[in-house]
Parts: sequence; C-alpha cells; structure tokens
Amino acid sequence: MFKRMQQKWGISGTQFWVIFVAFGLTGTTTAIITRYITSWVGLTPESFWLWKILLRISILIFGYQFILLVFGALLGQWNFFWKYEKKLLQKLGIMKSEMAKNSQKITKMAIFASGMGSNAANIIDFFKNRSDVKVALIICNKPGAGVLSVAEKHQIPTLLIEKDRFAKGDAYLPELKTAGVDFIVLAGFLWKVPPTLIAGYPHQIINIHPALLPKYGGKGMYGSKVHEAVISAGEQESGITIHFVNEHYDEGASIFQAACKIEPTDTAETLAAKIHELEYTHFPKQIDAMLTSQTK
Ligand code: GAR
Repeated sequence: MFKRMQQKWGISGTQFWVIFVAFGLTGTTTAIITRYITSWVGLTPESFWLWKILLRISILIFGYQFILLVFGALLGQWNFFWKYEKKLLQKLGIMKSEMAKNSQKITKMAIFASGMGSNAANIIDFFKNRSDVKVALIICNKPGAGVLSVAEKHQIPTLLIEKDRFAKGDAYLPELKTAGVDFIVLAGFLWKVPPTLIAGYPHQIINIHPALLPKYGGKGMYGSKVHEAVISAGEQESGITIHFVNEHYDEGASIFQAACKIEPTDTAETLAAKIHELEYTHFPKQIDAMLTSQTK
C-alpha cells in the first residue's frame, strides 16, 4: 500500500517517510491544540454536542491544514504540502484549478501572411464570435500586401517585419510576447521561420501548404508555383497539408491533409481555386481542434 501511495505521489522512499512523519506530528499537535482551545472557550463534556462538533471541524479545516504546512516546511517538504493544500482548496472551491484558469484564458493567435490574405480573412471570420480565441496580430513582410487591408478592415493590429531582424536577429519575439501571442499560424507566409522563433513557440507554429507534402514542398514552392509544378507533372490529385513548422521549409510533422481531383482541363488557376476551397473548409477547423486539445 505504501509503495502504491509513493508511486501515486511521485516521491522517493525517504521523502515518503518524511511526509508520513509530518502528517503524524500534525495530527498529534492538532489534538493537543484542540484540547487547549476547547477548555479555553469553556466547552466541557456536558456542553451541547453541536458546538463541540463545529469547533472540531473548524480546527480540522483551518488549524490542521495550517499546522501541516508548518511541519511540511520545517521538514523541507513545502512543495509537496503546498500542492496538497492547493488541491484541497480547489476541491472546496476556495481556489481555482489550473484547468479552470486555462479554460477562461483567451488564446491569442498571430497570423503571418504575405499575400492577399484570403486565408487570414477566413480564419478571422471563423473565430470572430469566440470568446476563447482571438486573432491578436497580423504579421506581414510585404508593404501593400492584401492581408494588411484585411487586418485594417477587422481592426487587427499589424506588424511589418524586415528580413534581417527576423532571420538573424530576435525574430520579433519581444513584440510577439508583448502582444501576448500564444499560437502562430502561417497562412501564405513565404520566409523560412528561424530557430529563435521556433524555440520561442515550441509546437505552437503551424503552416498550410497548397500541396500534398512531402511532394511539391521546399524553398521556392509557394502559391501558383506549386500548382504549375503539380499540373506539369501530370498528377491526378493535389491537396493541402497543415503541418508543424520546423527549421526546414515544409518539413515539420504533418497534422492534416485533404485531397482534390485534378481534371485534364485544370490549369494552375483552376487548381488554385480548388485548393483555396479546401483551405477555407479545413484550416480554421484544424486550428480550432488543435487549440481545444491543448486547453484540455
Ligand atoms: C495559400 O494557398 C497557401 O497555402 C499558400 O499561399 C496561399 C496564400 O493565399 N502558402 C504557400 O504556398 C506556403 N508555401 P492567401 O494569401 O489568399 O491566404
């Protein structure tokens, strides 16, 4: 039984016995204190039973827990006992659990885009009535890009970035952190993401690519270039890939793929339209699914 408790609490054998002693000392001390308090307030064995029970419960709830923390700290086990007390306070509804705190938290998303921004617009639209997710920032590297007008229309702050600071400097991490950004979505962003940004947002940066990776990915493969390559290779189908971002172009772990048929009459333009439809249908839903799974 002791072994099982030790495993459940995730502590060493010695720590288990120290904790055991802390509980023992607390129990004895509380019993002594209860006796003193009982006689101090004038309760005798003949007093009304309800007063005695109420006094004992109050001492147990407040005094015992406090004394436990004192002995815990004196025996070098503050962390264990504070965690124990927090759990108890959460159960009694006096303190909010991390989960409850997280479920109230608003996830702030930044969208990186350099093109016309139709995906950005679609994502903004999808989350516009949500109280738990907010598109907090649009990051763009191209003055005059369509995505900047999208941001203006929805009154979302924008940040125009320049290559050297992004690729070789601090990757604009201070601005992202100041804006409270938790999650990054690349929607038509063509620069390679530097290690500094990846380290600042581990597993929190995703990209959409307009082909079925690992085919037709890598440097220079973006937008219509991808569709032209797919068509001229005579492929029967293409699609979209949503994936985590790592230091290499289009090589991070895949999260989701969806395919569409290519007809002999398709051109790069008609294929682009089919791909955009797939992106509009799936990208916001996949982002939502990821964010939901993270807050659980
Ligand atoms: C999207 O089709 C996206 O998949 C692609 O750029 C387009 C942006 O369109 N991304 C890449 O090619 C990344 N390698 P949008 O500006 O209308 O959202």
